[in-house]
Amino acid sequence: MGLEISPEPATAKSATNTIKVSLTGSEETALTMLYARALDSSQTNPILGDKWAPEIVSKLNYDFPSKTGVGCMVSAEIAARSGNLDGMTEGFLALHAGEPVTVVHLACGLDTRCLRVKHGPEVRWVDVDLPGVVHLRERVSPSCNVGGDYTLLAGSAADVGGWIDRIPADRPTLVIFEGLTMYLNETQGRHLFEGIVSRFGGKRGVEKQNQIICDALGSIIVRLQGWVHSVENSGALLDWAMDDPEMLCREWCDERLELVEHMLAVEMPGVERYPWAFRAAMAIGAWVPYVRSHSKLLRYRF
Ligand SMILES: C[S@@+](CC[C@H](N)C(=O)[O-])C[C@H]1O[C@@H](n2cnc3c(N)ncnc32)[C@H](O)[C@@H]1O
Repeated sequence: MGLEISPEPATAKSATNTIKVSLTGSEETALTMLYARALDSSQTNPILGDKWAPEIVSKLNYDFPSKTGVGCMVSAEIAARSGNLDGMTEGFLALHAGEPVTVVHLACGLDTRCLRVKHGPEVRWVDVDLPGVVHLRERVSPSCNVGGDYTLLAGSAADVGGWIDRIPADRPTLVIFEGLTMYLNETQGRHLFEGIVSRFGGKRGVEKQNQIICDALGSIIVRLQGWVHSVENSGALLDWAMDDPEMLCREWCDERLELVEHMLAVEMPGVERYPWAFRAAMAIGAWVPYVRSHSKLLRYRF
């Protein structure tokens, strides 16, 4: 394992000494998530309170408000989602307290989950993203080597063989990805899930010690993607909608995957702290088929 550097730097220093960003497509959407967390942090009573996000934003020359279109509602939803995914990660670590484990944070973007989720030297933490994001991350992220076993890898979720074999399969492993599944197509998604299960999973029937934690969209958002400002602006394509997260267990991964948590975004902890108009929209949405499952958090065991 080791650090890989983008052959095509997507950044350059600007006159103001901030770093000019020229990411496009799904890589650019990492900036939306970063800004959403920074905006949440600037609130008096933040939902996530990621103190590193504003620091990273301040290093970048990028018109965050107009390019991302993120306001307080989207910021609140992203903060709540990230907070819940942090909680699930902490749950995995608590389950294996004191044991050597691996956490693979795939499509990590500019997210500092590795800093928010406290962990010690028994945790091997691997962040993975596409080369352009990895290159930017190396330049602007605070050091994530808190536990002493940290690696940043460039690789594509659509090419599992390219990076997964570089991560030792010698311990219980959590693979977590936030904001990724929708940028893959279903075939790539299948290869990713099957690749993870076959690399890190034990034999069929052996106790399931490994987890995949991710979020997913319902097809309503994929159909309405023209309305999602940051997707439209970056030219990214939302493709894979997971309307039936159990399907993966029934039809993929040789039935070795088990869905153990399915949390709808309209009902997740944190919603109660949204601005009131957004809270009301969520409460109504929770009664409307398709809208109800427009976004979800999933935890699988294998
Ligand atoms: C919406 S952002 C989420 C970033 C990060 N998870 C966060 O929450 O801040 C989407 C991320 O997925 C990454 N991504 C998209 N396609 C990918 C692929 N095939 N392999 C690895 N990462 C990918 C992008 O580079 C980007 O960092």
